[in-house]
Amino acid sequence: MLKFEGARSEKNCITISSLVGTKKSHSELKVGNGVKILRKDPVLRVQGLTKQIGAKKIVDKVSFEVYPGEIFGFLGPNGAGKTTTIRMIVGLSAISEGDVWIKGVSLKKNFEQAIAHVGGIVENPELYKFLTGYQNLLHFWRMCKGVSKERIDEVVRIVGLEKRIHEKVKTYSLGMRQRLGLAQALLHSPSILILDEPTNGLDPAGIREFRDLLKKLAAETGLAVFVSSHILSEMELMCDRIGIIQQGKLIEVKEVRDFVDAEEEHAVLFLIDPLPEADSYLKKMFPDYQLTVTEDGILAKIKREQIPDLNAMLVTHGIRVYGIQKATKTLEDRFLEITGGGQIA
Ligand SMILES: Nc1ncnc2c1ncn2[C@@H]1O[C@H](COP(=O)(O)OP(=O)(O)OP(=O)(O)O)[C@@H](O)[C@H]1O
Ligand SMILES: [Mg+2]
Repeated sequence: MLKFEGARSEKNCITISSLVGTKKSHSELKVGNGVKILRKDPVLRVQGLTKQIGAKKIVDKVSFEVYPGEIFGFLGPNGAGKTTTIRMIVGLSAISEGDVWIKGVSLKKNFEQAIAHVGGIVENPELYKFLTGYQNLLHFWRMCKGVSKERIDEVVRIVGLEKRIHEKVKTYSLGMRQRLGLAQALLHSPSILILDEPTNGLDPAGIREFRDLLKKLAAETGLAVFVSSHILSEMELMCDRIGIIQQGKLIEVKEVRDFVDAEEEHAVLFLIDPLPEADSYLKKMFPDYQLTVTEDGILAKIKREQIPDLNAMLVTHGIRVYGIQKATKTLEDRFLEITGGGQIA
């Protein structure tokens, strides 16, 4: 749970915060598997957010929006400014310039009202290890005004902790603690969850569980999720859109599929035998194609509709085709291209 140093509002059960947007723009977003199209106002709008410490801007004019039901990934290498940005968004750190709107309410002008819509975990959830999971939630619930006690059971169900909720937190695995932290963050039914590297330290199964839980919540309840990470593969699997932050600047925001599918031409790997023969034949037949011999076969940069043509030519010429694989760029390739590489975990 977030501790709001100097800005804690027990009245609004502020554990974490979320954000909103005042702009009346209607955006079209594909979320999940691209099934759902949302046209809504943003839950969170960050505009020109800047943190200056001494002469250095560690967060520099960062602007983005997060919509209902969307999982927005905030991806960046160590030291990029993710935590600093999040701490400003949830009111744990003063904003040097810019502002944050949560459901249209300015964080600067009306902190209590804005933060009431936010749930979050920044760094690790704050839990009392010698209390049970339920006692932790109860303790937190007492600070929440206007939340029914039944909501405690509801959030326990949502995060799947029913069986262990009456055991002491010190007996919980890291994944269970993270889920209890999530239950706490959800207690006051926020509109947005802000999570700073929530899967740090979790094993692959724990990461998957957490990811599935967030996706389900976003898809079924329209909860907006803003999640930071330095792990590309994780973001790719979890998020609808990703913003890349580097050295305090947000350098790109795109839907995940656009990061990896940006080019019209695809790199396609043909697994063939015999390779040298195929290579010289293809180069003769398709002098304009970009063809590269690799260890596994021939890599061709071609358009989608050219794939069957090339395959047909190979087969007709007696060359055996064992497989055709689309060697699409991964988010990692794109990330390294965009950031110049060398700085990711
Ligand atoms: N209070 C501070 N005073 C001076 N510099 C700071 C302060 N807090 C953060 N920084 C610097 O700002 C930069 C961004 O730090 P931040 O913790 O936001 O990065 P991050 O993206 O969360 O990194 P990580 O992936 O390691 O968590 C770093 O260079 C950090 O050293
Ligand atoms: Mg950090």
